[in-house]
Amino acid sequence: MANIALTREDAITELLQIYAQLDDLIRQICKARIESAPDAEAREALSRQVEEERRHVEIQRAFLRERGTPYEERIPPEVSRALVEYFLRLDWPEFVSAMQLTVEGMGTLVVRQVCELADEATRRALEIPLKDEESHIGFGARELRKALEALAPDEQEVLRDRVRQRVRLTMALTRSLPSDLRDCFEAAGLDYTALNSRIHEEAARRWKALGMDLGLAA
Ligand SMILES: [Fe+2]
Ligand SMILES: [Fe+2]
Repeated sequence: MANIALTREDAITELLQIYAQLDDLIRQICKARIESAPDAEAREALSRQVEEERRHVEIQRAFLRERGTPYEERIPPEVSRALVEYFLRLDWPEFVSAMQLTVEGMGTLVVRQVCELADEATRRALEIPLKDEESHIGFGARELRKALEALAPDEQEVLRDRVRQRVRLTMALTRSLPSDLRDCFEAAGLDYTALNSRIHEEAARRWKALGMDLGLAA
């Protein structure tokens, strides 16, 4: 995509294209993980998330079509494949930490920020997805708590260390997304440095509520 003279509207459309593709990848990954969920409650919640992500993709694609900019993949197939493989090989506590608590946590904050700058129609289209994403993050937090509570204190520390490393690695992985993302954020009216600070602040807050200090530099 040429990023010369990207208008705010083009930039927001571009970000919606990426959101739609990411949600579809999240749907595929979560669907493939249902069988690996540790109990019936987790399997049921993950199945619900798969259904909600499917609805998000439908809403996003319909909106893009109405806007005259039909859905097109933005993430190269080799990057999509690597992302799917990455999430499929994690154990359950690391999976919910990386997927729901990190990818969806970061993504939801970004979408909320974009919404504030977007037109009324875009805001309305994203209302349902944004509400659902919050419940997906809550699901991740519950599952990680459950996994920690099932362990003896010394084992909890080992798991916390693994999760810390996994979250840092997953946050770094977002750099494999389209490299012109920064131009899109700025053309949409978001200050990239301020956005990163907010992402780090919110992640630090979320992890603190789970009793963990990630040692993230703002
Ligand atoms: Fe979603
Ligand atoms: Fe989600």
